[in-house]
Amino acid sequence: MICLLGTVSHVAVASERGAEIFSIQCAACHGNAGIETDAPILYGQESAYIVKSLVAFKHGHRKDRIMTAMNAIAAALSDDDIREVAVFVAGQDACRVDLKIDHRRNGFRAAFIAGRQQYVSANCAHCHQSFHHYAPRLVGQKAGFLAKALQQFKAGERQAPMMAKLLKTWTSEDFNNVVTYLSGLRLMRACGDNH
Ligand code: HEC
Ligand code: HEC
Repeated sequence: MICLLGTVSHVAVASERGAEIFSIQCAACHGNAGIETDAPILYGQESAYIVKSLVAFKHGHRKDRIMTAMNAIAAALSDDDIREVAVFVAGQDACRVDLKIDHRRNGFRAAFIAGRQQYVSANCAHCHQSFHHYAPRLVGQKAGFLAKALQQFKAGERQAPMMAKLLKTWTSEDFNNVVTYLSGLRLMRACGDNH
């Protein structure tokens, strides 16, 4: 019994620390305040992927060209900080971030349908919807970030061998379609809106 109480209070302290780190050091870009930036939505992401990414930034295996800030931020976090902030953000509801997707805009529907076909035929879900090979969740992610990540993979600026091979033959229209589909899914499925 004593042992159990000890465990519970340890968890409570851990998540408070994670929340504190997030609100002071991360929310300006990754929360609602950073909605106009290219910083990805982290709420609801797999915590193991968040840890893996932060460790990669920390050791310079993954670099962020636009916001060199990310490498410096990650370098300042201890391994415990990384774990705690990851557990905190993973437990947050991704629908709290309002992407304001304009589904009535010209071409949205056609791009969404073409993107779905592309996503299905390339079997992206095989990894991205089962956390296979530590592949992050993409459904409902910001379009700007998805587009940037895909370009970085194709150009070899961001190293993920599996991704570069898959995207070699994709045109910019293919990218646009898949990105519209994935971020658009937030309206139709991920957040339960009726559009
Ligand atoms: C100055 C803005 C900024 C701040 C502050 C910031 N980030 Fe980031 N973060 C970014 C950007 C931009 C990217 C996308 C980098 C890229 O394109 O690869 C990113 C990427 C990430 C990723 C990779 C996610 C993915 O889906 O690939 C993680 C994890 C992350 N940040 C966690 C954090 C945490 C935790 C903090 C606070 C300790 C933080 N970030 C603070 C801008 C920021
Ligand atoms: C064999 C497994 C696999 C398949 C299939 C796959 N991916 Fe990935 N993908 C990954 C992994 C692993 C990562 C994380 C790379 C890293 O850690 O930086 C990733 C990262 C990404 C990212 C960056 C997301 C982020 O949060 O940083 C995007 C966007 C992406 N993949 C899109 C796609 C698309 C679109 C397809 C279909 C054409 C696809 N992937 C197919 C394994 C896969």
